[in-house]
Amino acid sequence: MRISVIGLGRLGLVHAAALASLGHTFVGVEMDTERVRKIHDGTLEMHEPGLADLVRTALTDGTLDVTSEPSASLGARAHFLTVGTPELAPNEGFDASYLENALRTLAPSLQPGDLVIGKSTVPPGTAAALTAQLHRESPDAELAWNPEFLAEGTAVRDTLAPQRLIYGVSSPEAARLLDEVYAPILDTGTQRVITDLATAELVKLATNAFLATKISFINTIARLAATSGADALQTAQLLGADPRIGASHLHPGLGYGGGCLPKDTRGLAYFAQQAGVMEAAQFFAQVDAVNTAQRQHITEWVTAQCRGRQEPQVAILGASFKADTDDTRESPSIALAHALMNAGLRVRIADPVVTASCGADSRLEFVRTAEEAMREADVTLVATAWPDYQRLDPEELLSVVRCPLIVDTRNCLDPARWRNAGWEYHAMFDPVMRLR
Ligand code: UGA
Repeated sequence: MRISVIGLGRLGLVHAAALASLGHTFVGVEMDTERVRKIHDGTLEMHEPGLADLVRTALTDGTLDVTSEPSASLGARAHFLTVGTPELAPNEGFDASYLENALRTLAPSLQPGDLVIGKSTVPPGTAAALTAQLHRESPDAELAWNPEFLAEGTAVRDTLAPQRLIYGVSSPEAARLLDEVYAPILDTGTQRVITDLATAELVKLATNAFLATKISFINTIARLAATSGADALQTAQLLGADPRIGASHLHPGLGYGGGCLPKDTRGLAYFAQQAGVMEAAQFFAQVDAVNTAQRQHITEWVTAQCRGRQEPQVAILGASFKADTDDTRESPSIALAHALMNAGLRVRIADPVVTASCGADSRLEFVRTAEEAMREADVTLVATAWPDYQRLDPEELLSVVRCPLIVDTRNCLDPARWRNAGWEYHAMFDPVMRLR
């Protein structure tokens, strides 16, 4: 089947390239001509394991075409909308204008019986509004909502082997067409659920808000562990061992970041507020507040450690919001760097893939390696759980820093290795990390 994908960012490009490998023919339409050029050149704008190879193969095989020409969608039967839905402003809900524009641009290429499939994360009601727009512009096409659950770093695997497929549809024909699109995945036994548009929209938002809630929950419990002599990490592990709770997203630390969990949790709070369900709005606002409290807590602790020192310096290891991605959107690590700089400390930051040229933030002092970041550092903070940091040599690094004090905000290092080498090592929720 010929399928079009509108928007070739972190979601759309993975979707097109991954499904092209399953036997469909994809055309990807992207308005940003520079992005299109880079995809053709093989210089992708994003670090996503496995993606570059998939894209190269699909372009060479002719199963993927990438263009800025909107009319290229003509002749496809299924059209995925994979454009972004950024926050309008902090705590003011989602901006649906990219979706509206994508649909407007797509409409002239639609033919009777075509299916437009929204994949972006939106509050319930968005698909209904887009359906009304579609019926005005192209009355014989239909709209469905098919939320995406891929995580960065494992996006290719998650797309090719999703845990479930959710079809928000208004007709059996739409479900049948989606079954054709996903046939190779369904053949492997993947569960698929047919529902209405609003449920498909809400389940995606709710999934991300739930994951955020789990993280804020465990960070709250970890803080209580630190005040009570309990072991924060073991408490988390034992909680996660209860199958009713589950171990995923129950790892305490610096908190969540990225383009999805923070935005979606605040977006759900805004949606609840608009709906007049104030306790829900307050609940999700509190999840967000607990998340940002983690970096404030570390900032206060590090600042207290550096008090009285001459020109104190902090090394931050990791800039991306998590390992295996170059994405710095709402990265807790970058927020931490800013907070420490605002507190008057000099901060050097290193990351295996994020560099100053990635445009993360021009005020930040990016250096190439962890060793460079740690030169003359009074405190070293591991802020992203890159496996590279597990391979650092604590003994060698002793002579690099001014003070051998390391805080592992992601609990990704081996404490014994660092302590045995002579470092003062603290996990994020050690009792010693308590300020008050
Ligand atoms: C998230 C969801 O997990 C995906 O299912 C969803 O499709 C995606 O958002 C999206 O809406 O596009 P992602 O943002 O890639 O995926 O990241 P996660 O792996 O969920 O991690 C989010 C943040 O939580 C990271 O900063 C991570 O370090 C942090 N985290 C994760 C914790 O602090 N503790 C944990 O136990 C797990």
